[in-house]
Amino acid sequence: MTNDELVQGLVDVLGAERVLTDPDVIASYVTDWTGRYRGTTPAVVRPRDRDDVATALRWCRDHRVAVVPQGGNTGLVGDRFPSRARSCCPCGDSITSTTWTSSRRSSTWVPAPPSAVFGSTCGASASTSPSISPRATPPRSAVSSPRTRAGCTCCGMDRCAQVAGVEAVLTDGSIVRTMRGLVKDNTGYDLPGLLTGSEGTLAVVTEVALRLIPDHPYRVVALLGCADLETALAVARRLRHDVSALEALEGFFADGATLVSDSFGVVVPFDPLPPVLLLAEAAGARDPTDQLTAALNDLGDAVTDSAVAVDPAGRKTLWALRDRHTEAIAGQGIAHKLDVTLPPGRLALFEREVRALVGSFEPPSRCFLFGHVGDGNLHVNVVGPDPDDRRVDRAVLELAASMGGSISAEHGIGTAKRDLLALNRSPEERALFRSIRHAFDPAGILNPNVLIAD
Ligand code: MLT
Ligand code: ZN
Repeated sequence: MTNDELVQGLVDVLGAERVLTDPDVIASYVTDWTGRYRGTTPAVVRPRDRDDVATALRWCRDHRVAVVPQGGNTGLVGDRFPSRARSCCPCGDSITSTTWTSSRRSSTWVPAPPSAVFGSTCGASASTSPSISPRATPPRSAVSSPRTRAGCTCCGMDRCAQVAGVEAVLTDGSIVRTMRGLVKDNTGYDLPGLLTGSEGTLAVVTEVALRLIPDHPYRVVALLGCADLETALAVARRLRHDVSALEALEGFFADGATLVSDSFGVVVPFDPLPPVLLLAEAAGARDPTDQLTAALNDLGDAVTDSAVAVDPAGRKTLWALRDRHTEAIAGQGIAHKLDVTLPPGRLALFEREVRALVGSFEPPSRCFLFGHVGDGNLHVNVVGPDPDDRRVDRAVLELAASMGGSISAEHGIGTAKRDLLALNRSPEERALFRSIRHAFDPAGILNPNVLIAD
């Protein structure tokens, strides 16, 4: 099958308005947010609804066209772009993007926009491949910062209890739907848990039910300075114990805070900056400020600097120092984004060792660290090495694994870590992954380049 035949086939079943082929329009779908990963595709498909998704998937399966589901294209591990590297055939990848919203609402469950889809062709012969995308995708320029939704600062990961139901289209066009919204439902395999975090390899998710957490009327944010990460982690442990209203515990370092401040003019409340900064937020139906400040007073010399904000503008400024790290680092070049969790008690040692490790690499590189220290999760960002040079990636992830950590806390495996999955997963686990994948997608058309190396 040539690219022209592939595009015509999709147009025949979906209509021309659903199939994007203009190279200028497609350009934003085939490069990821970081700029590190690039691919090619003859078309992007933008389905109107789940029936369009089913039609597109069935056609792609019948014609052995691989499909890469794509949502906001904000993944950080090369998981949602079409690549020709390991397509099922030489003609490359296609993209399916699905971001319509459902109008169904209930007090507890919210159908959320699904993630989108990409793909690649199997058994064809020409150049690149097609993609499918949604009705109401925001312009790519509007996406200023990655929000992979693989994890977040308030509720951890998407693959958590917050995702309570999914609707998904399988490659044969059939639809599985588990959206009853029951708090307890132990009736066999946990499909929301299986599909969430599966990197578009099992099905195309078209709707999700999220468990909502009521917002609290009172909030307080504290930015704390510490001499080193070890001390900051001890402070974090005390806060977790003493502040029942604690909602977030984030950590970053003086170099990152300075970069954010210089890049965006965000005011830093301390001069000089302490080496490590801890950001804590507490929230409740009653004002948690007294509880938080009492806990801070008990910390003594462990905290060298502190700033507390209760008003929305002040809280926003303190959060900006943490939240804008990703954008600020992106302004320094294409970062090698590595995302690890360490067991409790090993994070501070990892921080020292990873800095020494990155410092030993040529060319000289900068290493920015920040993350969800309350979860033992550090984002290691290395700027300097060529984007195609994977040596530093491997070295950092091997270090994390050797210390009992995970090579992907929240961002996933994608293509970036596909060849390193064995650092964390046994041959038996990888074989099981393949079996699960095959059960869902016997033709092997869904996002074939990610997760598991053949
Ligand atoms: C974050 O925690 O800000 C996100 O995971 C994005 C990133 O790691 O750059
Ligand atoms: Zn994160």
